[in-house]
Formats: sequence, C-alpha cells, structure tokens
Amino acid sequence: MREKLEQLKTTAIAAASAAKDAAELEAVEIKYLGRKGEMNSIMQGVAGLPGAERPLIGKLANETKRAVEAAVLERRTELESLAQGAIAETEWLDLTVPGDRPPPGHLHLVTDAVTEITETFAALGFTRVRHPEVEWEWYAFEALNMPGDHPARDEWETFFMDLPAGRQARQGRMVLTPHTSSGQAREMQKGKLPIRMINVSKCYRRQIDVTHVPMFHQFEGLMIDRHVTVTNLKGVLDHFAKSFFGEGRVTRLRPYHFRFTEPSFEIDISCGLCGGTGIQGGQKCRLCKEGWLELGGAGMVHPNVLKAGGLDPEVWSGFAFGWGVERTMMMKDGIKLDDIRHLYRNDARFLEQF
Ligand code: DAH
Repeated sequence: MREKLEQLKTTAIAAASAAKDAAELEAVEIKYLGRKGEMNSIMQGVAGLPGAERPLIGKLANETKRAVEAAVLERRTELESLAQGAIAETEWLDLTVPGDRPPPGHLHLVTDAVTEITETFAALGFTRVRHPEVEWEWYAFEALNMPGDHPARDEWETFFMDLPAGRQARQGRMVLTPHTSSGQAREMQKGKLPIRMINVSKCYRRQIDVTHVPMFHQFEGLMIDRHVTVTNLKGVLDHFAKSFFGEGRVTRLRPYHFRFTEPSFEIDISCGLCGGTGIQGGQKCRLCKEGWLELGGAGMVHPNVLKAGGLDPEVWSGFAFGWGVERTMMMKDGIKLDDIRHLYRNDARFLEQF
C-alpha cells in the first residue's frame, strides 16, 4: 500500500507537470484525483487494513493526495501565465506610438461662400440676421404684396406644413420658407431703423433636377432709411461685384418685374472671361455669349411691403435684393457642375476637391 502510494505520487506529479495545456491537465486531474480516480480506489482499500496500520497509511494517503493536488495547481498557474504571455506577444499595445489621425475635414463650400458673402456686406455695415425657415404664409407672400390668389405665387413651388394639433392658423398656413424675402417684413417689424440687413438662410421649394435642389440657400439684402435711392443700390452691388468677384467687375440693372419691388431689376455682372465684351479670342464668349451673367433680382422696396412691415412709405424708402448662394458661388469660382445635387450628396470624393 505504501509503495502504491509512493508510485502514484511520482507518476501523478510527473503527468501533471508534463501536461501541455489545460485540457491535458484536467485529464490528469480526473485520472488521479477524480471520484473514480486512482487515489480514491487506493483510499477505499485503507478501510480494510489492520487497525494499527490504518492511521499511518491514511495519513500518508492524505499527504499524497495533497501533493498531487499541489502539483496540478502549480501546473495550472504555470499554463495560465504562459497563455497570458502569448497574448501579450501578439496583442501588445504601445501607448507611446503616435496615433492614426482621422483625415482632416473642412467646411462645406457653400458654408465658405456664406461666410464670404456675409463678410463682403459686413464691410458696408450690413448685419447678418436670421429669420424663421418655417414661416407663416403671410410673411412669405402677403407681406410681399402677393395676395392669396395672385398667380405670381405659383412661381414659388412651396412646401406647406401641417400645423401642430391645437395651433391656430394666425397668418395663413405654415410653409418652409421659399425665399429669404420673408425676412423683410420681420426685420421691419423689429422697429429698429435704419435697416441694413443681410439675411442668409436655407430656402425650400418643391423642385429637384440637375439645376435645382429642394433645399438651397439665398442671401437677402435689405436697406431701409430716409431717401434711399437706386444709386445706393447700384453702389452696394458694385462693391459686391468687385470684392466678391474681383476688381474690374461691374453690375448692370435690367428692368424686370417683381411684386415686392418697384422699380424691379435683374442684376447682371460683367463676365470675367471676356471682360464684358461678349467676344473672346475673336469669337462669341463661351461663358456668357453677350458680356453679362445674370446674378438675380433686386429693386426698390414696394410701398405696400413697407406698410406690411409697419413703416410709413412717405418717410422710409429702401432697396432689396435676393440671390441664390449656390449660383453666385458657382459663378465666382467658374465651377461648372453638371448636376447641382452633387453639392448635397455628402460624397467625400466630390467635396474634397474644394
Ligand atoms: N425672392 C425672390 C426669389 O426668390 C428674389 C428677389 C427678387 C428678392 C427681387 C428681392 C428682390 O429682394 O428685390 O425669386
């Protein structure tokens, strides 16, 4: 019995320390220490021993068992730290290595254009203001001398909103503002005169094709003071042409019609390619064909609009203009987009180029 125990101790300890991984070690453990293992079968024999020998062998058996358990535990710890070491080999992390920077982004080209336009007019004392983009129909049309049934309103392909439940329609329906002109009456109603505002905002119209997007930007200039004349308008426009498009560029006023201005104009800017002559390299200019490029609308604020804003047309006069940011920007940089929707597709391959 004594010998058997000695032998079991030697072989079990050797087997434990030779185990190559946790599974092998477990097999060793079961084989020697398990419920039906060798250790237990020896222990069962102890009961049948003569009285004098029993305590001695029992003690030895316990020692043997503990020695094997210790060997198994030691090997287990060893295997675990070996495994840790292997992980450390393959998955180490050096916190001092410089990190990967996310690629730097930049502002959207339309955002840059808005900033530049704002700064150009700021130089003349125009302050950038903001007015609601979700607006009452009254500000978008009625206040601009376009009564409800006026056919001119069809030109604005407007998005109409459902009012939140329980809200009373105060000034017509609610719309996504189709142009920045809706800020005119709002600015006048502030009652702070004189006015020199530049209202830059998103505008919305039900239109989408290669030259239109349902969300675009406009900037609206409004100057109200005593004795404002067309000459003032022309001076401001020429300043804008020179500082935004470049020295040597001038504007021209072409008679036109808008409901909210009288007189009204389309503003053209001399073409940068042919210098306003319409001829380039002995041929018709390929950009403008006739020397001028169309910027957008302007005019002297209609008396009815002044009244809608709470101002006395006998005292106050002013001019207004409202142009598309995207269009103006593209004219400046000679950007020819075959599809204006590229601007808002958020495709980095397109945006990176600017
Ligand atoms: N609101 C007009 C539009 O969206 C543009 C416009 C024309 C604005 C003449 C003006 C103006 O302030 O005087 O088509």
